[in-house]
Amino acid sequence: MAMWIFGYGSLIWKAGFHYDDRLVGFIKGYRRVFYQGSTDHRGTPEYPGRTVTLEPAQGQVCWGVAYKITSKEHQSAALEYLEVREKQYDRKAYFDFFTDPSSVTPALCGVMTYIGSTDKKTNENYLGPAPIEEIAKQIATAEGPSGPNRDYLFHLEKELIKIGCKDDHVIELANEVRQILLKGEVIRS
Ligand code: SIN
Repeated sequence: MAMWIFGYGSLIWKAGFHYDDRLVGFIKGYRRVFYQGSTDHRGTPEYPGRTVTLEPAQGQVCWGVAYKITSKEHQSAALEYLEVREKQYDRKAYFDFFTDPSSVTPALCGVMTYIGSTDKKTNENYLGPAPIEEIAKQIATAEGPSGPNRDYLFHLEKELIKIGCKDDHVIELANEVRQILLKGEVIRS
């Protein structure tokens, strides 16, 4: 049986594993939020960055992509790779995935995704909400082994436009970070 993986953050533009198909679509009842701390990719333990996780949000949808992996061999390789890459995300969740906003019937069921939960016992890096200026300042400043945190945000913004998704949280944050950079306010304390 084919396995499907839903990506709503960096997985949108960088799968990093072999896949046989890629669908653009959305899951229901969740929104994308920059509430997950990153000390291994886009920040460091001393200065964590922020990456996206999913937050329950009634009536909302989160757009992203679903990757189909057919063979058992490719499935094992993908999971082995993702368990390392997504290791700061403490939950795996399974969703219905829709490709057609006008249809109530999902295109796929049981699409797996990684979530950084709000439980500090299992997700010590969870940061949660903060004023937009604070989140933007953190993103403008943080940098980790995978590169500057702001590149993650700007890349996500670009990829979401490409798949036809207008995500207000991402756009607002990206605009705020651009303002900070324009003003030359990035000073690491
Ligand atoms: C994802 O892309 O689905 C998870 C979050 C990330 O790795 O950016």
